[in-house]
Amino acid sequence: MTNIELFRNAMQRLAAPAVAITTSVNGRPAGLIATSVCSLSTEPPSMLVCVNRTATAHDDILTQKVIGISLFPEDAEEDARHFAMTRGEDRFSRGGWSEGAGGVPLFDRAPFAFACRIARCFDGYSHTILVADVVDTRLGEEASERCLLWHKQTFTTLAPPKVA
Ligand SMILES: Cc1cc2nc3c(=O)[nH]c(=O)nc-3n(C[C@H](O)[C@H](O)[C@H](O)COP(=O)(O)O)c2cc1C
Repeated sequence: MTNIELFRNAMQRLAAPAVAITTSVNGRPAGLIATSVCSLSTEPPSMLVCVNRTATAHDDILTQKVIGISLFPEDAEEDARHFAMTRGEDRFSRGGWSEGAGGVPLFDRAPFAFACRIARCFDGYSHTILVADVVDTRLGEEASERCLLWHKQTFTTLAPPKVA
């Protein structure tokens, strides 16, 4: 295997939440599904997100300087699949979305959803690394606290909690 093949193979073993990154251009929603999302700092509350320069939403995100970050709940696999497989506004035609601060679309049943302002951008080879400051937080119902994961190129869920 080449180094790139080895890397791809390795990364398939890294389970991560599949997250909707969204923005809005004059009321037109745009976005992509992403796993390269993690917390950065608590003071201020901020996130790191890596967006491929080739993604159709990339330039919109950089221009608008606002993003929504929505975690999919574990029972929303079909909604997440639809979001991942469709393009443009059609991404938002399933599952229920509403506007957050700055007009960004947020998934209604998300375990958490953030509306963020892009504070900084860095070159990340094929990707742009975004530092996103959280300006508004929505916490979902307790019933939907558990998030959908991506592992070995498929959606999966956390194992049930162990009963003591
Ligand atoms: C599970 C999953 C995770 C992904 N993670 C990322 C990511 O972290 N960053 C990214 O730029 N693209 C990621 N992608 C790819 C983008 O979602 C995809 O290239 C993008 O949506 C292209 O859409 P477009 O047709 O709007 O350009 C991921 C795709 C999948 C299926």
